[in-house]
Amino acid sequence: MSRASARSPIGVFDSGVGGLTVVRALMERLPFEDIIYFGDTARVPYGIKSVDTIHSFTTQITDYLLARDVKLLIIACNTMAAVAGDAVRERSGVPVLDVIDAGARAAVAMSGKGIGVIGTPTTINSNAYARHIHQLDPSVHVYSQACPLFVPLVEEGWLDHPVTRLTAQEYLKPVFVESIDTLVLGCTHYPLLKHLLRDVAGPNIRLVDSAITVAEQTAGVLTEMGMHNPQRGEPNYEYLVTDIPLRFQSIGSRFLGRELRQLSMVSLG
Ligand code: DGL
Repeated sequence: MSRASARSPIGVFDSGVGGLTVVRALMERLPFEDIIYFGDTARVPYGIKSVDTIHSFTTQITDYLLARDVKLLIIACNTMAAVAGDAVRERSGVPVLDVIDAGARAAVAMSGKGIGVIGTPTTINSNAYARHIHQLDPSVHVYSQACPLFVPLVEEGWLDHPVTRLTAQEYLKPVFVESIDTLVLGCTHYPLLKHLLRDVAGPNIRLVDSAITVAEQTAGVLTEMGMHNPQRGEPNYEYLVTDIPLRFQSIGSRFLGRELRQLSMVSLG
């Protein structure tokens, strides 16, 4: 039974640092909400792991955040949402939002004919985006492409590097052959490549960044539940990670667009 109230924080989690793109969107859209962010930096990347492993890691993180009495949970990791979203919902007594549902809704609302989806191999193999999109509109065409090299390139900080540009051109070539007008950035890391991808995609393809949509959905759910934080002071942001890698602070700040304070290491074992 959840003891969460309107003053409780929102829990956001990801396999690593990438979910901070969602935190950033939340901070902008809901500036009075407290947020606890959980990044499983010791075990990232999830995108190339098996479904069973992702399942077990995801439920551990969910239980940890529920024990912190979060009032709403956001699965900021596309890979976790793709294969373990149902398990999170089953065990949570609080509303659960995720980036796949948000991205699929935004894409269907934007697209007239065809939607391209890019993500990690696990997300793409799960077919979760295509299933979600077809539930919303069975007539829309979906073309999916795994882009495994994007995560390490972003982690390396090569956001506008010729190697990243070439990689994007190569990955997206088969997607652009299809008639799509919308491209879903189906991985937490990809919003950082937005400028480059916009360039590679050209003016006729719109990009969907599910971070912005999920922040909008969160605002809607809080309004519906009457759960907006009534306090109007400086919000509290807490960042929990399972490891603090060498360049975590600098990468994290880049994802967040501001300095990363209140960072602590926790153990799930
Ligand atoms: N957070 C993952 C996602 O959105 C990308 C990083 C990983 O592979 O763990 O799919």
